[in-house]
Amino acid sequence: FAVPLLIPPVMPRAGVSPVKGGRAADLYEISVRQFDQQVLPPGLPMTTVWGYGPIAAQRRRAPMIHHAPSLTIEADWDRPVRVKWVNELVDDAGDHLPHLLPVDPTLHWANPPGGVAGRDSEPDFASTPPLYDGPVPLVTHVHGAVGVGDESDGYAEAWFLPAARDIPDGYATEGTWYDFFAAKAASAHGVEWGPGFAVFQYPNTQRESTLWYHDHTLGMTRLNVYAGPAGFFLVRGGPQGEKSVLDSRTGSTAVLPGPAPRQGDPLAPGKTYHEIPIAVQDRSFNDDGSLFYPDSRAFFDGIVSPLDPAGEFAPYWNPEFFGNMLIANGATWPFQVVEQRRYRFRFLNGCQARFLILDFNAIPGVEVWQIGNEGGFLAEPVDLTTNHGNRLLLGLAERADVVVDFTNVPGGEYVLANVGPDVPFGGGEPGFDFEPADPESTGQVLQFRVVAATAPDPTTPPQFLVLPPITPLPAESGTRPLVLLERAAIGFDADGGEVEGPVEALLGTAAGGVPVPLSWDDAVSENPAVGATEVWEFMNTTGDAHPMHVHEVAFQVVNREGLELDDDEVAVPITPNGSVRPPEEWESGFKDTVIAYPGEVTRVRATFAQPGQFVWHCHIVEHEDNEMMRPYRIGPEQP
Ligand code: C2O
Ligand code: CU
Repeated sequence: FAVPLLIPPVMPRAGVSPVKGGRAADLYEISVRQFDQQVLPPGLPMTTVWGYGPIAAQRRRAPMIHHAPSLTIEADWDRPVRVKWVNELVDDAGDHLPHLLPVDPTLHWANPPGGVAGRDSEPDFASTPPLYDGPVPLVTHVHGAVGVGDESDGYAEAWFLPAARDIPDGYATEGTWYDFFAAKAASAHGVEWGPGFAVFQYPNTQRESTLWYHDHTLGMTRLNVYAGPAGFFLVRGGPQGEKSVLDSRTGSTAVLPGPAPRQGDPLAPGKTYHEIPIAVQDRSFNDDGSLFYPDSRAFFDGIVSPLDPAGEFAPYWNPEFFGNMLIANGATWPFQVVEQRRYRFRFLNGCQARFLILDFNAIPGVEVWQIGNEGGFLAEPVDLTTNHGNRLLLGLAERADVVVDFTNVPGGEYVLANVGPDVPFGGGEPGFDFEPADPESTGQVLQFRVVAATAPDPTTPPQFLVLPPITPLPAESGTRPLVLLERAAIGFDADGGEVEGPVEALLGTAAGGVPVPLSWDDAVSENPAVGATEVWEFMNTTGDAHPMHVHEVAFQVVNREGLELDDDEVAVPITPNGSVRPPEEWESGFKDTVIAYPGEVTRVRATFAQPGQFVWHCHIVEHEDNEMMRPYRIGPEQP
């Protein structure tokens, strides 16, 4: 616990201007760059990473420049944000920078040269193709943004390369959907896209909520996000925002802990914030401080193909990656000085494959209340300390808006622990159903240094918070049975014979309970009408929990139900067994990511309002990159 927790400053605006329709919008020009950052404790080497930050012209106005995770975008409710997203992964001479991590060319991916190894469901298991060292494709998605046009959603095949001097001939410089969306952006928003950038616009008409933004390039998200590009995007205000939270004792507006960093705040050490976003991620490092990510399947214990007992065979792709260190806001094991008062933390699980269970039990006298999740405030505050063992479960990409009360915590130093597993999660309790993370490393998140309060705490105790009402979605017009399943990858050996490779997870449809596995390249099978409300059923036939994310909508969790088993395996046709359980207390309100547990169907209800082409996927990024993502379309067929 050698460095203070970084509190990400606010991303500086490039300006304010009217947009189509005459409304004022906040304008940003944000690039991804490569730089060195002190991720490991001081005295150890710096780490080369990527991160978002203001483009060169605005850098002098920024309190800090690029960082991983990045500066927070603060959006006002009902005020559009327009971002020029620039891929600046070039060196000083303007030549492309290669990836920091081993890129598996056998996955379907952005693949500028047009298909190094052919891909798809037919990797060549007999040879190990060379790692890709070309220019890096990027495309940004604001995770949890609702009402966004598909041209601005960061579709996985709308990636683009940097405008480098040295792009080899024959490279596609943009993904297959880039031109279609560029034309759409021009007509919808009057903006032009060009080499190395795209301009996206977000309406911010959804409830006040904790969103985040990160790279979403097809088949490369796990690597691009691991290298750094991610940050918070907070929507504030509106009828279901903080101003409409009441204090039940007085009936008037409640006071939540604050302030958070604001536009233009300097990154001054003396400035105190009581509302702090905290991104928790896992990483591993080489001795020279560089990021480590496995370049061979052998890394993943126990999954070595019979074709390749030495574990050297392609693909390099690993089914999950667990870093052996945790970072919080971009540094390993930081500390945060807190006074004996209430704080508001917005936690994000930004790990690769690791479910986090944050554990406050080593902090005597602490009280922890969850007041919000991905889609804004919960129906009512949830007392995690009294009712849930002082713990907070976060699947990948889930967020929790939490009030932590240190009022009765004696002065001292206390560790916020993580008791989630160091391996894939299947549900259950640490110490009973699985071994908790290594208490010496991944079992520790950060340290709180509790000191006396310098002023009385004006904030409302969480038990008196009356959160804004949740409007239930209309009844559904239909139910869509979907399946999460595992199967052996099919590939070819040296003689062209079909062989089975390692197991991979994928998605599919399950009409009548009959699973139909589908790949990214298969035709769209989920096509809700514009304005339709549907229940989506995630039937998980695999052995692990998967955090399922649907773009473009904020959904309500309906329930979960067990599935009939047949010798421990889910039986086909897949049949719910009648044991239904309601959503967890912290799943009230609106969410964009939900944990689908093994052997259960998890049901969510959403209204699909904005026509266009979007995706739904598992947010274990290694799964997402290898076929656990599907396109879906709201409304009529795209040209
Ligand atoms: Cu956080 Cu489709 O992603
Ligand atoms: Cu998954």
